[in-house]
Amino acid sequence: MNTINTLFTQNWYVIENSNKLKKGDVLSKQWMGSRITIYRGYDGRVQVIQASCPHLGADLGHGKVIGNSIQCGFHHLCFDNKGECSNQKSKADSFEIPKLFIFPSEEKFGVIWAYYGSEALFPIPDFPDKETKKIHVKALKTKKINCHPHVVSSNGFDIQHFKSVHKVNFEKEPVLSILDQYKMELTMHIIIPGEDIFLRFLRLIGLKKIKVTFSTLGGNIASSHTKVGNIEIFILFANRPIMGDQTENQPFLMIPKTKGFIKGLIKNHLYMIFLKPIIEKILRDDALILENMKFRENFTPADLVISKYFDLIKKLPTFEMADHRTFTL
Ligand code: FES
Ligand SMILES: [Fe+2]
Repeated sequence: MNTINTLFTQNWYVIENSNKLKKGDVLSKQWMGSRITIYRGYDGRVQVIQASCPHLGADLGHGKVIGNSIQCGFHHLCFDNKGECSNQKSKADSFEIPKLFIFPSEEKFGVIWAYYGSEALFPIPDFPDKETKKIHVKALKTKKINCHPHVVSSNGFDIQHFKSVHKVNFEKEPVLSILDQYKMELTMHIIIPGEDIFLRFLRLIGLKKIKVTFSTLGGNIASSHTKVGNIEIFILFANRPIMGDQTENQPFLMIPKTKGFIKGLIKNHLYMIFLKPIIEKILRDDALILENMKFRENFTPADLVISKYFDLIKKLPTFEMADHRTFTL
């Protein structure tokens, strides 16, 4: 069983903006306590791989993209998009170059995601309404919070915090659904007499009730799906652990895309322009409270929902990348 402070559970994590890598580009960076290389092959596909070359360990970020393979800068061994060495010259000496580790990866919402594990156990969440064919996505500013990502995501399951910080009243008891070993969601029907700026705005335009579904997928990914009148807002949070028990929080704000020039312009852009600062303000307020939090599991009976979230967290699979070094210094 994991402890709350286990840093690196399996999940999808945002690693880079898609537009940072053009065909043939390669770069390396620190990720999840080790180093990875990201490159875009000439077929347009991104590959996320272990940075240390399986031969003698050179950083493949100094390498060159050849076709859809990466060529190490040190002895020019090439690794194809399956991780196999394709030009090993020394077959006769019977030492076979180990396979390069490739992380599952995908491009979605304008960023590159990598799955920390050898095989993705679940997909990156989509916009919840399957009927919605096109969505308008805006990546909000990333934020560093001095607190573990699992604790950051727990915020959405903390009913006491909704009552005390956001001053909300519930029309009926919130409903918690544990959907599988990775996913749970909390559905809340909120009456809008709250003090929060966002709720005040909704009241101002005549909306009295709001339905919010807060979900998590493996702790590090969380989302809130809000339906208020005919407005639908989906916020996806990608929380990445960084060393020292910190979080890099990347929110994506999404609304269904409206067709038509005038209507589309108003809904797609004005909504975003208006919603973005309000949502950023709410997130900023929450981040302030989470900053420097040293989490303790001293749950009271009123903390039942948040305690269920931590039950899920403690059973999440972790991952450790195999090390290809053949000797230890
Ligand atoms: S270290 Fe990469 S080819 Fe030798
Ligand atoms: Fe909050």
